[in-house]
Amino acid sequence: MIVLGLETTCDETAAAVVERDADGRGRILSNIVWSQIDEHAAFGGVVPEIAARAHVEVLDRLIAQAMQEAGRRFDELDGVAAAAGPGLIGGLIVGLTTAKAIALVHEKPLVAVNHLEAHALTARLTNDLPFPYCLFLASGGHTQIVAVRGVGDYVRIGTTLDDAIGEAFDKTAKVLGLDYPGGPAVERAARDGDPARFALPRPMVGRPDADFSLSGLKTALRLEAEKLAPLSDQDVRDLCASFQQAVADMVRDRLRTGLSLFREQFGQPMALVAAGGVASNQAIRALLNACALDGRTVLVLPRPELCTDNGAMIAWAGAERLAYGLTDTLDVGPRPRWPL
Ligand code: KG4
Ligand code: ZN
Repeated sequence: MIVLGLETTCDETAAAVVERDADGRGRILSNIVWSQIDEHAAFGGVVPEIAARAHVEVLDRLIAQAMQEAGRRFDELDGVAAAAGPGLIGGLIVGLTTAKAIALVHEKPLVAVNHLEAHALTARLTNDLPFPYCLFLASGGHTQIVAVRGVGDYVRIGTTLDDAIGEAFDKTAKVLGLDYPGGPAVERAARDGDPARFALPRPMVGRPDADFSLSGLKTALRLEAEKLAPLSDQDVRDLCASFQQAVADMVRDRLRTGLSLFREQFGQPMALVAAGGVASNQAIRALLNACALDGRTVLVLPRPELCTDNGAMIAWAGAERLAYGLTDTLDVGPRPRWPL
């Protein structure tokens, strides 16, 4: 089965072609991602209107490139998938409408994919991974612990009550005058910083649920920065290191609780799977490994380019749904809010 997938939910425009064989094994035939980061950097965050226009400008070209690299024609596809949500409405309309046009013209099944479901299933594209497994998704827009029990069968175990973890990294970077996106900048600065210099709060730690909260930590960091202003380079490094340590401590505690809630309800997970841009942070990766070991399971970390937003994950989720006959009609609409 060969599927074209389009991703336009946020600030990456992406098109990819993947293959799923009869045994459920995946292969990436092409995976083209165009990041709009430069267009949004001056604003310190994603501007929805700029994002939507940029998707319109480049999507056609990316699709042509993805098809060419895959060496396939449209009539050789078994389906066309697009991320229909959650995300920014302008981008969703661009991607979904484009997928509908291709599906209509070439008489192919359409699959409207939930972006979060795509993150949840990506690990199966490159690994022989049976259900059920525990997903930790941490990106700029989402922070969730999810029990992935099968295609279309997801149970949310924990979520953030306010900001996403990546968003907190981005806001911290902004307060400290670092580059956007903030995650990599904060991680770099933290390397030469003292994680014990500032006693920042660890929200939610010790609670019996597996939820997250970042706003108290974010505010505490801003107050420390204001007290010290103007900040020296070493102040910035120490603030970054203290912030990253606080996030890591919270994630470790929340994941431990999440994994034990998983076991109580669904039995032993086949793996702990991480996805989203935050999973590329080395401090977070180290603790994910420790959490998996503690939970007597294994850590599955898809390659960095498959952890962040891309077209292959949408195409793969489309193929997994197609294998169960789960398709959508041409009147399916975009869903800016679409919980798993
Ligand atoms: O998954 P992703 O590429 O896009 C979505 O948000 O869907 O995630 C981007 C987020 C940004 O908030 C970025 O600051 C964060 O992931 N991020 C990181 C790191 N690299 C990216 N956060 C912490 N440490 C990193 N090394
Ligand atoms: Zn994402």
